[in-house]
Amino acid sequence: MINAEKLNHISCEDVFKIYKIADLEVVALRGLDLDVESGEIVAIVGASGSGKSTLLNILAGYDLPSAGKVSVLGRDLLSMTSSEIEEYRRTKVGFIWQQTGRNMFPYLTAIENVELPMMLIGDTPAKRRKRAKDLLELVGLGDRMNHKQDRLSGGEQQRVAIAISLANNPPLLLADEPTGELDDATAAEVMKVFDSINQELNTTIMIVSHDQDIAYKVDRVVLIRDGKLSTEIMRQKSGEKGDELEEFIIVDGSGRVQVPKTLLDRTKIERRAKVRIDDQGVILEPGEDKK
Ligand SMILES: Nc1ncnc2c1ncn2[C@@H]1O[C@H](COP(=O)(O)OP(=O)(O)OP(=O)(O)O)[C@@H](O)[C@H]1O
Ligand SMILES: [Mg+2]
Repeated sequence: MINAEKLNHISCEDVFKIYKIADLEVVALRGLDLDVESGEIVAIVGASGSGKSTLLNILAGYDLPSAGKVSVLGRDLLSMTSSEIEEYRRTKVGFIWQQTGRNMFPYLTAIENVELPMMLIGDTPAKRRKRAKDLLELVGLGDRMNHKQDRLSGGEQQRVAIAISLANNPPLLLADEPTGELDDATAAEVMKVFDSINQELNTTIMIVSHDQDIAYKVDRVVLIRDGKLSTEIMRQKSGEKGDELEEFIIVDGSGRVQVPKTLLDRTKIERRAKVRIDDQGVILEPGEDKK
């Protein structure tokens, strides 16, 4: 029997995204491989321009890759029709933008904003209202339901955004720097909301973040460099001593690994390296470089 818990929620294989502007080509994703299991919380970090938003937009069904395979819960995003994509966006994936103002309609109250996606799929008014209330309570805003955007703080607006994104009970939440405009304390509260949603609803969550300490708040951090995964940090929950972080470099589908520049700089390796194996593992040594 297939263990549903372990089913891959997201699977990206050799994904490329090339943007063309006039004669110029920008390669935003360059053979990216990524698997995310159901129920995981994964953070994506990386320099500006490394392809984080491009990846999230593809997973959200807002954009298509130029090449490669992307599937979410076993559904191939490249072969969906436009009405299937629309249904996917409405019911399978919730999206939270960095700009607090982009997540809600300013002329509707918090609860009306949360009800809106349920209206679009034809839920009854009574069902909508009850679920919207429950969700606002879940994100800790039970006492702010009738406030409009201008009466909510930045952190509260992002919590409403999370409630909105969960309205149609999507199995996947994607958030593009949801705490980017918040101060540290408020950002920490919003991160706690993501954590409790993951615990209570078992929602798979991917968050783009610039937070230096993000690795202590999620299960796994993946680092994107130049449109490709380069490093992963896993958190090992180790009880009293606190959590320990373990860093791995990624071996891609073709067996390529990228040695972190900080390590490479400490060796004499330049353009060529020799590789051999001993009982400790694989050893890389400087090769003869032709000057
Ligand atoms: N619509 C677009 N048209 C052309 N180029 C684009 C487009 N969107 C992104 N790019 C380019 O693709 C690359 C990756 O951009 P992306 O927005 O994914 O980066 P990012 O990692 O999210 O950066 P940031 O941390 O600044 O948000 C960049 O070089 C960017 O200029
Ligand atoms: Mg971005």
